[in-house]
Amino acid sequence: MREELVNTNGDLSSVDAEKLIDETLDKYEKYVNPGFAQMMRLIGTTLEVKTEGPYMYDIKGHRYLDFLSGHGVYNLGYCHPKVVRAVEEQIKKIAQTSARTIMNKPMADLCERLAKITPGDLTYSFICNSGTEAVEGSLKLARAATGKTQIIAADNAFHGKSLGSLSATGRPVYREPFKPLIPEVDHVPFGDIDALKAAVNENTAAIILEPIQGEGGVNVPPEGYLRAVRKLCDETGVLLILDEVQTGFGRTGKMFACEHDDVAPDIMAVAKALGGGVMPIGAFIATPKAFEPFVTDPLLHTSTFGGNPLACAAANATIDTIIEADLPRQASEKGDYLLTKLTKLKEDYPDIIADVRGKGLLVGIEFAVEGLAGSTIYELEQQGILVLHMLNNPKVVRIEPPLIITYEQIDFMLEVLKKAMKQNKSLL
Ligand SMILES: Cc1ncc(COP(=O)(O)O)c(C=O)c1O
Repeated sequence: MREELVNTNGDLSSVDAEKLIDETLDKYEKYVNPGFAQMMRLIGTTLEVKTEGPYMYDIKGHRYLDFLSGHGVYNLGYCHPKVVRAVEEQIKKIAQTSARTIMNKPMADLCERLAKITPGDLTYSFICNSGTEAVEGSLKLARAATGKTQIIAADNAFHGKSLGSLSATGRPVYREPFKPLIPEVDHVPFGDIDALKAAVNENTAAIILEPIQGEGGVNVPPEGYLRAVRKLCDETGVLLILDEVQTGFGRTGKMFACEHDDVAPDIMAVAKALGGGVMPIGAFIATPKAFEPFVTDPLLHTSTFGGNPLACAAANATIDTIIEADLPRQASEKGDYLLTKLTKLKEDYPDIIADVRGKGLLVGIEFAVEGLAGSTIYELEQQGILVLHMLNNPKVVRIEPPLIITYEQIDFMLEVLKKAMKQNKSLL
């Protein structure tokens, strides 16, 4: 059943490969983080050396089929040739900028593309380097645009771990050691419009939500929820920030998940898949009205590396490739197929699988207990398939492959998963 061994280690003997693994583990122990090193030892780690399409290869020559996509980064698979070519061509010309007073064409091209592919009146973009920066910028902009300070977020939300974003992230275990976080950030149950209505007051600057919660456990809100939130924001003058860092760029079967509900935010945060899995990049895109403070003072929010031509060239090629290949449609069709099969698996193993849910190729399997999620992740990895649990909900295993995954590869994963369920049953 396991994927074939392939030659990825050049002339290295297996002894040399083991030696390199040990040396790297030793550096993790001494210089990276001893806690990480201990975890790596426990799971019998290896070294990643090569990637291609949906595959990651380790130094021992094992091939892994990636069903987690770096938490939503590899929508195009690894090292898509068009993105790699765009980066190679750009690096020969100019990689980073120096003077902001001289114009940067790849960044202007990217901002144009973002304005065209995002819904509603989203027009102006600030380009940054990661998801948490995109959220930080969105929160700052909302405060500056409204002159108000309260932010409402959802329980179990994941918006990143820098101090501002962490204030909106909804998992206590990540928040407690860093308190006090930024003040006046309130959390309400996700999907509950009445709770949101009750939380809004005259000092509310923004409501920030993921259209579908990713790390919270792939939580799809009730039908009509996002539209009701938009209406509430319109009636109260509160800005709506949608965090599409994980759901964006085709992942859920539309270019952006909010399009399932025909809802457009005032500010949208994106990152992850935007760089095509080749470059790190994030952005927040706002309506002209919300963006006003940054027009009045263009230096109010800045970033040395944000908008660098290299990352923007990758993002431009990524967006073009997603559109050319119609990846949102592919994600929708393949996601329906996957969810149907997983629903059947849940019916076959009701005492192991509590729920399966998702949209497009953002799918979660909720296990009855956390231990079963852990043993399934381990079993799949032993058979050459990479999956992982959700950061805010360890009972939920993400099935989040690159959108270029084939039906044969989905079937292969399902076969392995079925075997893991049989194994789990014998443990019960
Ligand atoms: C919805 C969402 N927002 C923000 C982030 C933070 O992104 P980053 O890890 O690039 O800072 C994540 C990361 O998983 C995410 O899923």
